[in-house]
Amino acid sequence: MKFILNDELIDESTLPSDFTALRYLREKRGLTGTKEGCASGDCGACTLLVGAVEGGELTYSTLNSCITPMQALAGKHVVSIEYLSKVGELHPAQQAMVESHGSQCGFCTPGFVLSLAGLYENKQNADQPIDREAVCDAISGNLCRCTGYRPIIDAGLSMIKVQESKETPFIELMSKNSGIKVLLENLQADNRGSSNYLQPTDLEQLAHALTSYPEAELIAGGTDLMLENTQRYRDFGTFIDVSCVSELKHIHIGESTLSVGASVTYSELESFSKTLYPHIFALLSRIASRQIRNRGTIGGNVANASPIADLPPLLLAFDADIQLLKNDGSTRVVNIADFYQGYKQTQLADDEMIASFDLPLDKLAQFHRFYKVSKRMEDDISSVMLAVRFEEKDGVLTDVRLAFGGMAATPIRGMKAEAALQGKTLNDEQALHQAIAALRSELTPMSDMRASAEYRLDMACNLVHKAWLELNGTNVMTFSGHPFNDASLSTDMEASTHA
Ligand SMILES: Cc1cc2nc3c(=O)[nH]c(=O)nc-3n(C[C@H](O)[C@H](O)[C@H](O)COP(=O)(O)OP(=O)(O)OC[C@H]3O[C@@H](n4cnc5c(N)ncnc54)[C@H](O)[C@@H]3O)c2cc1C
Ligand code: FES
Ligand code: FES
Repeated sequence: MKFILNDELIDESTLPSDFTALRYLREKRGLTGTKEGCASGDCGACTLLVGAVEGGELTYSTLNSCITPMQALAGKHVVSIEYLSKVGELHPAQQAMVESHGSQCGFCTPGFVLSLAGLYENKQNADQPIDREAVCDAISGNLCRCTGYRPIIDAGLSMIKVQESKETPFIELMSKNSGIKVLLENLQADNRGSSNYLQPTDLEQLAHALTSYPEAELIAGGTDLMLENTQRYRDFGTFIDVSCVSELKHIHIGESTLSVGASVTYSELESFSKTLYPHIFALLSRIASRQIRNRGTIGGNVANASPIADLPPLLLAFDADIQLLKNDGSTRVVNIADFYQGYKQTQLADDEMIASFDLPLDKLAQFHRFYKVSKRMEDDISSVMLAVRFEEKDGVLTDVRLAFGGMAATPIRGMKAEAALQGKTLNDEQALHQAIAALRSELTPMSDMRASAEYRLDMACNLVHKAWLELNGTNVMTFSGHPFNDASLSTDMEASTHA
């Protein structure tokens, strides 16, 4: 595999498929500025900036190197903390951290600096201000145990001054000078992966990889799978990386459906949905952290089949169809309601994968909301998640979906509760209470470290009540919850329900 590490072109051919970028930097290159805190994508100490050319543009985004296979970064520009001050002065993110006293013990600092640097580099081109929301978003996957977040946020905000002075961003400056964009384009065009890490870029190459390596494991962003390596010490053999297959990366509005490719990342879907589907956007911005959202895919979330994953309830609410692709190229369609068969069990055969999801446009146009309850606002898994959709005609509910995560061994619909509301007028309060009583009889959640069964059930019932109030035009106050966001009480961020 070939890639650029800081300012060096590297050609590596001996790495195990699951050898992480963090281990590579620290153990093989002696670049120990990148830290290991948790090895599970939770703390951000291992954050790297990675540049890639997409659509002719060189853009940089952050990721967690502790759960990213090094070989996933073939053809990319990997920027570690050591690179930032190479041009003889500090990067604006570093300078701002110094001036705002944003570091004490310093363990988390390289990760924070790279997260802020990523924000700085991208905003410089996007002609948008670096505001509080953007800073909090950029550092949503970084933990600091001693400085406290206020000085770090101050540092992020003070990068504005440098930005306004129109200085050329550091990485961009260096990139132009060294012709890095053209080099990356060539590396990306030549990249097919290695014998233990295949990186097909189209369906034909994917089919070839699948038939040549039938025992290989599929990997997309690796944000679920790689934890089996770092937390459970599972050694993987050959990986087929589906994250670059162009046919799996589309977001397309057709005549009757919105089609989303399985390898679309959360960050990509966020950009698409921001204005078109703000409620979907609000949910996406509550999933994990910026680093994870830059890598994690929709297909990986659904295929992983966790009962607390956030997208399956959303797909259930819209009755989405899943397009499955067999190794021999044939396809079949399974509705999301039939996809999950038990705890972590799906309809996927050994020789099948998810190609895309189809969401009906008419259902997307109906009233829908998503409520995620978790202990922390950032980077936390749901204790309970509710996705609702109400279809109404002439003041009567004609179709209702109440889809939950965290309430059973699989993502599940509250079908008795749905039936109690269906055919009733929008504001029929008795029907609401019947629906809530039905929910209590049909859902039997479990207790675990995230929440007790009783809490989950109470919360599920309250969320249905909340959705019903919102359907009837009541503004329900929601803690939008960014602990550092001045506008912390908001009514419009319904996905930000806090436990
Ligand atoms: C710190 C952290 C926070 C997280 N927070 C959240 C959260 O808030 N909400 C949430 O829902 N999840 C969360 N996750 C879980 C994870 O990020 C998501 O489930 C993500 O969408 C997984 O996608 P991926 O591309 O990384 O999948 P991978 O890890 O690459 O793959 C997961 C599984 O899916 C299979 N797979 C991948 N693509 C396909 C395909 N196209 N067809 C068939 N099988 C496929 C793989 O073989 C593997 O078994 C979090 C994870 C971490 C580490
Ligand atoms: S070491 Fe904690 S996120 Fe990677
Ligand atoms: S400065 Fe010590 S962990 Fe952040």
